[in-house]
Amino acid sequence: MKSHATSRFIPVIRAIFIRMLLISCVLLLGAAPMAAQTADVTGFWVLNVPTGDGNFTKTFFDLQQSGEKVTGAAWFNYRKSPISDGSFIGGLLHLTVSLSPVDPRRQALYDGALQGDKIRMAVHFPGRDVAVGFAERTTQAAVVPPPPLPVPALHDVPDNGLALTPPMGWNSWNKFHRNIDDVTVRGIADAMVASGMRDVGYTYINIDDTWEGPRDAQGNITGNLKFPNMKGLADYVHSKGLKIGIYSSPGPQTCAGYEGSYGHEDQDAKTYAAWGFDYLKYDWCSAGRIYKESDMQAVYQKMGDALLASGRPMVFSLCQYGRGDVWKWGAKVGGNLWRTTGDINDHWQRMAEIGFSQFLIASYTRAGHWNDPDMLEIGNGGMTADEYRTHMSLWSLLAAPLLAGNDLRSMSEETKSILMNTEVIAIDQDADAQPVKKISEQGPLTVAARPLMHQTWAVGLFNRGEETAKMSVTWKDLGLHGKLQVRDLWAHKELGRVADQFSADVPPHGVVLITVKH
Ligand code: GLA
Repeated sequence: MKSHATSRFIPVIRAIFIRMLLISCVLLLGAAPMAAQTADVTGFWVLNVPTGDGNFTKTFFDLQQSGEKVTGAAWFNYRKSPISDGSFIGGLLHLTVSLSPVDPRRQALYDGALQGDKIRMAVHFPGRDVAVGFAERTTQAAVVPPPPLPVPALHDVPDNGLALTPPMGWNSWNKFHRNIDDVTVRGIADAMVASGMRDVGYTYINIDDTWEGPRDAQGNITGNLKFPNMKGLADYVHSKGLKIGIYSSPGPQTCAGYEGSYGHEDQDAKTYAAWGFDYLKYDWCSAGRIYKESDMQAVYQKMGDALLASGRPMVFSLCQYGRGDVWKWGAKVGGNLWRTTGDINDHWQRMAEIGFSQFLIASYTRAGHWNDPDMLEIGNGGMTADEYRTHMSLWSLLAAPLLAGNDLRSMSEETKSILMNTEVIAIDQDADAQPVKKISEQGPLTVAARPLMHQTWAVGLFNRGEETAKMSVTWKDLGLHGKLQVRDLWAHKELGRVADQFSADVPPHGVVLITVKH
């Protein structure tokens, strides 16, 4: 076994090694000519790094050189980041770009060699493979976001009548991020059927960011090399008895830097309809650098109207991280669901922070219009089975969309038992769409309950603490009395008729989820 001290140094040694490799890489690939000794890199540059699917990630630089020192800023997706360290020595450019004002360790490294009037650059982003591209000179205009488009006057978009219960399905982002393609999506659709998920209600196969390709001469969006036939893919998913979703942004660029719908809103809605899509997730991203926050509702309304005008029923999923109290106006712009928070990840802390912060706004959900605390992480490996059962129970009590975010082609039996617990899904999908209420909270112990159809209550006893805890709920807390029939939905067991209250030992980070009825 490695000692603690040795393993602490491994990341540092690895970083130094990668750095040396980068520098020798750019040096070998293009040794700086003599002219580079006298060159000056002052000015605006655009670095194009191929993404492997026909697109390029574009990073803009505004560089000022003084002697060997280089200062300035970098822009990605119109977001400015300062250059914290820079030099240009003998034709070799080195830039360190600070990615976070609060975390100095979050840095991107750029190592370049001047080749003619271009700079060949290797890019090292934390946690990503080294990528190589060419930077060329550009103008200041290229780093400035385009102007805001005129926004429509506010009105209420007519209800599309969809998503009468919270949408259920799968989304590519949590597990696959950028590594998603046509073949994988087809495989996921197959697995949704083969695993039995379709039969318990999972319906939507949603492609997230990085499917987008260039626009054609008429401005029509196309899929990129990873998605060569969007209509063919939609037909395939439909042939499995499933529905299919797509992703875009009201900005010129999506969050991953791909083509957004800015200035093409109606046209894109028509394209999605012609391809046969059934669902759009519309992610704010670069729109935040263009529009005023106060125009957000109108910007979303524009797409809500465009989807209706396309003539194809499409679920409209708003993704703007809960800004501007979206739960108060999401339904008015035609939204069927709206994200209420920033991004989830596959860690207990983040999942719990999001899930347990949702009770206060739970009353804004109603049939056809849902709060969306983000997609599920169940089965992605970062949490224990107890933590994933808490995730599933909490999302179901919250009437949240159940969008699996794992690889359905390789699920363990345990993951299947959590995602396909039909008794828990029934809470999520309850047709009465009554909001959950927090019944009690004592330190890390939370009891939450939701009235269901047929005078039944669902009650979750959640223990966020580190030790097993005895927890209780009284019938009085629920406005009930007498002897009530209790069923444990994870043990799949009737617990008989119980008087006055129910108590259970709840494991750390775990839940006991019951239904209670006369
Ligand atoms: C944002 C969204 C995520 C995902 C990514 C894709 O971060 O909140 O859910 O769609 O963009 O780039």
